[in-house]
Amino acid sequence: MPPTTPLPVPITLIVATTPHPSPSQAGKTLLGIGLNGTLPWPRIKTDMSFFARVTARAPPTPRVPARANALIMGRKTYDSVPLKLRPLGKRVSVVISRDVGGEVRERVGRELGEKREREREAAVAKAKQSAESGQGEKRVEVEESKTDAFVSSSLEDALQTLDSAAEKGDVGSVYVIGGAEIYGASLRLGLDGAASARTGEGKKAAQRKVRIVMTDVEKLDGGLFECDTFFPVDGEELTGEGWRKVSAQEVTKWVGEEVTGEWIEEGDVKVRMAGYERVDV
Ligand SMILES: NC(=O)c1ccc[n+]([C@@H]2O[C@H](COP(=O)([O-])OP(=O)(O)OC[C@H]3O[C@@H](n4cnc5c(N)ncnc54)[C@H](OP(=O)(O)O)[C@@H]3O)[C@@H](O)[C@H]2O)c1
Repeated sequence: MPPTTPLPVPITLIVATTPHPSPSQAGKTLLGIGLNGTLPWPRIKTDMSFFARVTARAPPTPRVPARANALIMGRKTYDSVPLKLRPLGKRVSVVISRDVGGEVRERVGRELGEKREREREAAVAKAKQSAESGQGEKRVEVEESKTDAFVSSSLEDALQTLDSAAEKGDVGSVYVIGGAEIYGASLRLGLDGAASARTGEGKKAAQRKVRIVMTDVEKLDGGLFECDTFFPVDGEELTGEGWRKVSAQEVTKWVGEEVTGEWIEEGDVKVRMAGYERVDV
């Protein structure tokens, strides 16, 4: 039998945005996502814990039981994660970089080793504690870490690796977690060149389901957050041709926990979660 090409895994862009006037087009509102290499707003616990739960949760109907979900990110977004948290635990971080000298690969590899060592130490301490309190096994056993990371030189290469890994059950859901450059590349997948979209890799890219899980962030007093980095698609485009805004029930199914679509207040901001799906036009 000839080797079968794995089905393209769906990708879900997960992003938090805030309305912001376009710096170049008067009257146009863009969706701001970043400022000075970090988020435009101070820590919003509701959104950060939503992101952590959703991206770490096993997919509802895996083809085969998967070890961990994959998070695709640009090198700048990887670097915006605090050193002691990266690579993010119990998930596979896929860092996209043009890194020719190997410096990014070396660094991500080293940081992965350090992270796994911290996880091992924490697991040993926890197991010892429960053994001492008589609640756990006498022997201290530590599970193999689910945390992984690798560097890829393009989004297409990363997806090819992840399609094969998903087929084998080595990864579950695939999330694209930013920033603007990598969101842009993900949204262009399958849209570059109608001819190439009929065959080979182009056809496969066109078949890939693309979803967005978006957290809207607004100030309660109506003020704006300063932004210098923007989501490549604005609110108007997301409600126009090529996109479908899905119901709160559908987002609930996608993410595996209840999403109401209602505003949730935290301090002086409010957030609400919404979902969009790319549709054929
Ligand atoms: N609000 C949110 O939900 C959210 C989420 C994520 C990020 N952010 C924000 O977004 C900002 C960062 O976004 P960004 O657009 O500046 O950076 P980014 O997309 O995170 O990373 C850009 C880097 O990715 C690599 N890259 C991009 N295109 C590539 C390609 N075609 N092939 C190979 N490598 C490629 C390059 O890395 P090298 O330079 O190593 O070659 C490039 O410098 C930050 O402010 C961050 O806080 C916000």
